[in-house]
Amino acid sequence: MLFKQQVWLRQKLLVLGSLAVGSLLYLVARVGSLDRLQPICPVESRFGGAHNQAELPLRALQFKRGLLHEFRKGNSSKEQVHLHDPVQQLPKAIIIGVRKGGTRALLEMLNLHPAVVKASQEIHFFDNDENYAKGIEWYRKKMPFSYPQQITIEKSPAYFITEEVPERIYKMNSSIKLLIIVREPTTRAISDYTQVLEGKERKNKTYYKFEKLAIDPNTCEVNTKYKAVRTSIYTKHLERWLKYFPIEQFHIVDGDRLITEPLPELQLVEKFLNLPPRISQYNLYFNATRGFYCLRFNIIFNKCLAGSKGRIHPEVDPSVITKLRKFFHPFNQKFYQITGRTLNWP
Ligand code: A3P
Repeated sequence: MLFKQQVWLRQKLLVLGSLAVGSLLYLVARVGSLDRLQPICPVESRFGGAHNQAELPLRALQFKRGLLHEFRKGNSSKEQVHLHDPVQQLPKAIIIGVRKGGTRALLEMLNLHPAVVKASQEIHFFDNDENYAKGIEWYRKKMPFSYPQQITIEKSPAYFITEEVPERIYKMNSSIKLLIIVREPTTRAISDYTQVLEGKERKNKTYYKFEKLAIDPNTCEVNTKYKAVRTSIYTKHLERWLKYFPIEQFHIVDGDRLITEPLPELQLVEKFLNLPPRISQYNLYFNATRGFYCLRFNIIFNKCLAGSKGRIHPEVDPSVITKLRKFFHPFNQKFYQITGRTLNWP
């Protein structure tokens, strides 16, 4: 009898224990994801002016609860509470390029910040005439829901190289912040080629070797008609943007460093966006299998980028690499000079 009771008690304790652990795990996950959705800094700290970190509620949940409490006490009007309802906001910052520079990694890593909400898909509003004709409300409706104190960021790398885009973005918001992530131009061109090659292979199509596309067989010079080469002439594209926006509205991210040492690059972006520093080494861990840093949101949620990011590049004739590097060199110098960021590319 006593033995039966002991077994029954042990089983009960086991069930209760599992329930408690399950609830705890659920709470940790839930608080982590709510943190991502709710405001953490006051509106005035979003852009411009120094932010007062003492004013930043540490826990988004506490902030939300505080508001509701104020409302109940009658200190806030119903309208004020509604001011804190999530809405679809136009982006305050856009990652405009460069294709294969690490635009997805940058967006996902910035999204670790509780005050940042990313538009998951590339929207291609400003570079696609058909989308652009649908109007700004169409664009806004493509944005994720966020709290007014948060900022929405989207990325569409085609913006950087498309003629009409700077003027169109300027018309939407002339004080928008623009992020450009660049990689050493020859590596970026090969990465660009690798992506197209993969697409062709998937469709069982044959494709030229990189060397054949990047070097004009008639002149033996660099083929500037090849898109992957043209995209890597960063200064040419940037100059078009500078007709609309002052250089202070751009921030250059070193895409090669984002691969090897992401945190300091992200901290520079936080500063540029006037966000309180919230992304830490805890949020980034190196995954040896992937060979890249992956993201950790909390003890439960972590993720690496999709396998399409970080492809193995084909081997390229070293003389072609040398030729391309020599070709890009003067453009790079100009790029450093204009942006004030020297990247020591070969
Ligand atoms: P490769 O595939 O050439 O290695 P984009 O998102 O603009 O298309 O850029 C893709 C590039 O992001 C990849 O190019 C990869 O090197 C780089 N990248 C940077 N950080 C990364 C990360 N943490 N995980 C995967 N890829 C990353």
